[in-house]
Amino acid sequence: PTDEQALRELPKAELHLHIEGTLEPELAMKLAERNNVSLPFADLDDLKAHYEFENLQSFLDLYYQLMSVLRTRQDFTDLMLAYLARANADGVRRAEIFFDPQVHMSNGLDFDLVLDGLLEGLRIGHERFGIDGGLIMSIIRDMPVDSAEALLDTATSRADDLLGIGLDSAEVGYPPELFGHVYERAARLGLHLVAHAGEEGPADYVRRALDFLHVERIDHGVHAAADNDLVARIARDGIALTVCPLSSHRLQVVRDVADLPVRQLLDAGVKVTLNSDDPAYFGGYIGDNYIAMARTGMSLDELATIAEYSLEASFATPEQKAIYA
Ligand code: HPA
Ligand code: ZN
Repeated sequence: PTDEQALRELPKAELHLHIEGTLEPELAMKLAERNNVSLPFADLDDLKAHYEFENLQSFLDLYYQLMSVLRTRQDFTDLMLAYLARANADGVRRAEIFFDPQVHMSNGLDFDLVLDGLLEGLRIGHERFGIDGGLIMSIIRDMPVDSAEALLDTATSRADDLLGIGLDSAEVGYPPELFGHVYERAARLGLHLVAHAGEEGPADYVRRALDFLHVERIDHGVHAAADNDLVARIARDGIALTVCPLSSHRLQVVRDVADLPVRQLLDAGVKVTLNSDDPAYFGGYIGDNYIAMARTGMSLDELATIAEYSLEASFATPEQKAIYA
């Protein structure tokens, strides 16, 4: 228990967190009522019976369904503040947070409403908790590439309010190179580049995210471990992996968190970080992910090193990094 508190208190960055994945079932029900959105669940208990997932897609189905309750600027501010309060309790000093504009726009919302609501949450959260935050606009890879290009058109005038661009949703069958031109445009806007790869997809999708998208970090990336040459390249180039233990367990990427190649990757010199992905769906926030790895036999020292990697691998300025630790 004291070790658990020590793990929560380690100064850390959260680098892989979908703000929509922090929508707890209680808040989803409350917003459904507030916004007159009908959900196909009788009550909270009925909804809660739907949190067992067979794979990434079965999670995404519920995740996208519940997103429909987010309707107003205030909803996005409330969601962000609820997350930052949790993050603060887990020692998070810096949070680089994904959001899925294409889904909200498909639900009829304006890009600016979503972005302004989230930014307001970050502003209040910074005041309240001292957490630095930034937003990574994530492309839905199983929507048409044209939709991603259109998002870039919309987001161009707001590029200064964004930290980066990411790539998420159903991975297999939607390889990185489809989005080469989108990433080229994002780079020209001055955005940082990251992408989910090697979660359900093979090691080769990780290689292609590096070759064709020129990403600076890989989200998940656990299947890269199957390819020794690729692991050596990732280590040499200082590409951090944002591993999410409880997520990969609950989505049945691995049978047990102990089966994640975290130790192997660390030994090969890869900067591994630990993150929560979609904590409202996977049974825990970032501190719980550190605790889950401790239970597999990782020491407090090793986990403190991982926490340092997370701060280093963030896109914070050197001046900001100097005050986190
Ligand atoms: N993988 C892919 N898409 C996602 C995830 C994830 O872990 N979380 C939210 N969208
Ligand atoms: Zn993710």
